[in-house]
Amino acid sequence: MQDILTAPFLVEMVRTATNMYNHGWDERNGGNISLLLGEEEVAEYLDVGAVIREIPTGFEAPALDGKYFLVTGTGKYFKNIQYDPARNLGVIHVSDGGRTARLLWGFTDGGSFTSELPAHLMSHAARLAVSPGNRVIMHCHPSNLLAMTYIHDLDSCSFTRTLWQMCTECIMVFPDGVNVLPWMLCGTNEIGAATAKQMESARLVVWAQHGIYGAGADLDETFGLIETAEKAAEIYMKIAHLPWKNTITDDALRQLARRFQLTPREGFLE
Ligand code: 13P
Ligand code: ZN
Repeated sequence: MQDILTAPFLVEMVRTATNMYNHGWDERNGGNISLLLGEEEVAEYLDVGAVIREIPTGFEAPALDGKYFLVTGTGKYFKNIQYDPARNLGVIHVSDGGRTARLLWGFTDGGSFTSELPAHLMSHAARLAVSPGNRVIMHCHPSNLLAMTYIHDLDSCSFTRTLWQMCTECIMVFPDGVNVLPWMLCGTNEIGAATAKQMESARLVVWAQHGIYGAGADLDETFGLIETAEKAAEIYMKIAHLPWKNTITDDALRQLARRFQLTPREGFLE
């Protein structure tokens, strides 16, 4: 059995969490990540039958029964993950129709998975249904996206169009747009179900006055998705209070879509 600390999935998780912290997206224990792992991948490093503890999840996720995830721990600081991955991260085996998480590794201080596990697992199920290669759900608190939810309409169409107008690359990176949820109580099954519903039509879901969720095939892609949206929000926050003399028109956005053979979210361009 190989040392899990050398596993590419673990190394990549630690690097990503550290990078997110360095971008200022994950103050204190803010943010959480879950990465879907294959059983063969896990079995190279862990005895999948050796369960450390069973932790009830408080919800059902039948579509994910039997699946393995590397997840961040609740209350854990992203800045510390690099110094003690085994304390701050855990590998769980979802069982009992999603009602139980069998801990196979990590959370060495007796800790548990993120309080946002409902939003993560329900979003994994929603994304896997439309995109079978999806492996990552990532949540964080980037300042400019968060700031934007105080001063911009929260309608998903107008929020997306504004972000698309902020940098030419945006419509290429997230042609499916950004869905926006109004403020809701975090850590609940309700916000989990609402997020998963929004994940059916977009890989980015903003939680007003809280943060953002991203979904993708791997950690790099998901990080890049959030990075691009946050960059656009940063530009918006720099110019929102100034008179605009120019913008990227809907016609220009349509030209980009044609040139790069993308299908922008139906109904989001005028
Ligand atoms: P956890 O520490 O439970 O992951 O919560 C952080 C967070 O961002 C809540 O939305
Ligand atoms: Zn949060």
